[in-house]
Amino acid sequence: MTTTTRQSRGGHNNQLWQISELVYNASANSKNTGDEQAMTVLLITGASSGIGAAIARLAAKQGFDLAITARRMERLEALCTECEPYGVRVLPIQADLAQWEDVQRIAKTALQFFGCIEVLINNAGFGRLNWLEKLDGQSEIADQIQVNLIAPIQLTRQVLPSMIANRQGHVINIASLAAWVATPTYSVYAASKFGLRGFTEALRREVSIYGIQVSGIYPGGVETEFAQKAGIERKTRLTTPRWMRLTAEQVAKAALDVIQHPRRQVILPGYMSLVIGLNRFAPRLVDWLIQQWFVRRERLTS
Ligand SMILES: NC(=O)c1ccc[n+]([C@@H]2O[C@H](COP(=O)([O-])OP(=O)(O)OC[C@H]3O[C@@H](n4cnc5c(N)ncnc54)[C@H](OP(=O)(O)O)[C@@H]3O)[C@@H](O)[C@H]2O)c1
Repeated sequence: MTTTTRQSRGGHNNQLWQISELVYNASANSKNTGDEQAMTVLLITGASSGIGAAIARLAAKQGFDLAITARRMERLEALCTECEPYGVRVLPIQADLAQWEDVQRIAKTALQFFGCIEVLINNAGFGRLNWLEKLDGQSEIADQIQVNLIAPIQLTRQVLPSMIANRQGHVINIASLAAWVATPTYSVYAASKFGLRGFTEALRREVSIYGIQVSGIYPGGVETEFAQKAGIERKTRLTTPRWMRLTAEQVAKAALDVIQHPRRQVILPGYMSLVIGLNRFAPRLVDWLIQQWFVRRERLTS
């Protein structure tokens, strides 16, 4: 593993200097040469596991320079080592998106180091899935809204001026099917993801005039650490069947494909559009089915 103390284009302060010591393999053979228009610097939140880590691996393979962020620094460092063979620069930034100062520091650090961020992937998020009255007001409600919705908005706001100045950029928000179909025990999670979808739609209309793309990715169940952290307690043991679950790599592939072929939204798996349509056009039927299959059995049985 090689390390570098390379200076950022925008100069450095002590904090950045410490971080830059963790940057792995500043390469001379980056794929940037020859194609000045190609977007090459990607910032991804929640890269320490699951979808974010899979996106980071695939993006490095495709030659993107990366700023990666999460709380678990040891995971980010391991990812840096994994990306080393691809000859790209990877800047790990330890940050807790529930902390406002940390959110501010991410964009600043990445912009100082790389000079620009061309693709921002707002991926970090978590779900605490329980009946509303059982959720903790701070850690399971306020923090969930902060990490899943407010942090992506604030981070985007900080990255946007450089995208506008460069007249290019792409913001990709990893939302969820819960941004379209809200189900019991997902109330706060759905609120955060519905909000993220609204933000994504409005922002796209605000910035497309500058050549900036904004996309939403809406996956159904994905095999990651998400469920382990969700605190799910089910009497019925109802869960997404294994055959319906996506892999993190499938979502990562969709995210990288959206960079190459920008689209407003990607629903994964595609057939889930039918469920979204059913929920939209037959909401009473969906309410009834959910009451019968889930809520009555969970709430009324002892
Ligand atoms: N898995 C699913 O079924 C599914 C379905 C649809 C959408 N999604 C969405 O996909 C995104 C990625 O989730 P995943 O499935 O890959 O789950 P995951 O494996 O648990 O990854 C979540 C990532 O978010 C980071 N994160 C969580 N809280 C954070 C905080 N306070 N500050 C900074 N980073 C934080 C975690 O890093 P640290 O813990 O190291 O901080 C981790 O890297 C989330 O937005 C999730 O809502 C997931």
